Amino acid sequence: MSTLNFAIIGTGGITLQNHLPGLALCKDVKVTALCDANPAALEAARQQTGVAITSTKWEDIIARDDVHAVIIATPNVFHPPIAITAARSGKHVLSEKPLALNAADARAMAAEADRANVRHMTAFTYRFVPAMRYLHHLIRRGDAGRIYHYRSCRLQDWGTRSVGWRMQKKMAGTGEIGDMLSHRIDFARHLVSEFKRLVSSLVNHTPLRDGQPNDTDDWVGLLAEFQCGATGVMESSKLASGVNESWRSPDRVEINGSEASFSFTTGCWNELQMGKLGGPGMKALPIPREFYVLPGSPRDPGVGDPLVSFRYDQAVEFVNAIREQRPCCVTLHDGARAQAVIDAAVTSAQTRGWVELGGSV
Ligand SMILES: NC(=O)c1ccc[n+]([C@@H]2O[C@H](COP(=O)([O-])OP(=O)(O)OC[C@H]3O[C@@H](n4cnc5c(N)ncnc54)[C@H](O)[C@@H]3O)[C@@H](O)[C@H]2O)c1
Repeated sequence: MSTLNFAIIGTGGITLQNHLPGLALCKDVKVTALCDANPAALEAARQQTGVAITSTKWEDIIARDDVHAVIIATPNVFHPPIAITAARSGKHVLSEKPLALNAADARAMAAEADRANVRHMTAFTYRFVPAMRYLHHLIRRGDAGRIYHYRSCRLQDWGTRSVGWRMQKKMAGTGEIGDMLSHRIDFARHLVSEFKRLVSSLVNHTPLRDGQPNDTDDWVGLLAEFQCGATGVMESSKLASGVNESWRSPDRVEINGSEASFSFTTGCWNELQMGKLGGPGMKALPIPREFYVLPGSPRDPGVGDPLVSFRYDQAVEFVNAIREQRPCCVTLHDGARAQAVIDAAVTSAQTRGWVELGGSV
């Protein structure tokens, strides 16, 4: 099998935590080039990985003939130009979420990748949580019956500390909704159906973080109707004091259907809660072992912290899709549809009214 050469653009937090260890699991894959606009971050990544080809300019890396695939892990504003240029150069593209600052740019990324006939993927990493994959399987099998309600709640305690580029609208597009709720918007589309209409509120409680201006939302509440007739309630906050953060803090998804209810918490990667219609209440439903890793993944679920290592299956899926010349399980179109929901929520918060998603999703 010929070696697939990867370039990674943006060598910050998510590249070190997720993309590099994920690619390291994949057979006949080599990270051959790294790019970061910050020379210090680039040098630290070079020393950590031993990757010889580095540049502070993504254009130089993408132009290389020996790069076959690109992972984009920069601040959000740079995802579209990098993805579009990479696709036009014939490189397969995995872009971090949220894909862009608006749905038009996100759709352009997906359209260009289709036109270039390259594999493309949005990094909706939580699709690879074993409990999420099992929940999707049960819902498709009909165990929930007709879905009435979808509910997600993501609470973290980030206080008023600076969150860098994430608090600048011109770099991030939005705050909490793009950063955190985008994943839960994707769960909703994956588990329930496309959004039909929504009403939303986005609030900035912290115009200053560590004394620096913050013009993005740090709380979002969203009420939705889905095309299948189900209804949804979603909330996400950076300001839930005392609840901790990342996977140590509340991250709950609930489904109520005509036959059963299911709930899932990211912190319990190998367990769902389930209750049957008319039954005594919710109880633990263990995840079968065959759901512990993505089919085809070489990952040993007993190695490492399972709350981190499920994320490595994302790189495996991207590589396998390239090898098998098939669409990735979550494409740039999925990222663009989630972006359309984000745009609708921003419009709703500004106009204080319901917004129809119509043909835009
Ligand atoms: N999928 C997930 O679960 C997940 C988790 C965390 C972050 N993310 C996403 O990943 C992306 C990066 O987030 P992060 O937490 O790693 O941020 P980060 O700030 O830690 O890293 C971003 C890096 O990009 C570099 N950079 C900035 N502009 C650049 C440019 N023009 N060219 C090349 N490099 C540039 C910065 O110097 C920095 O090193 C964001 O889109 C974020 O939303 C996704």
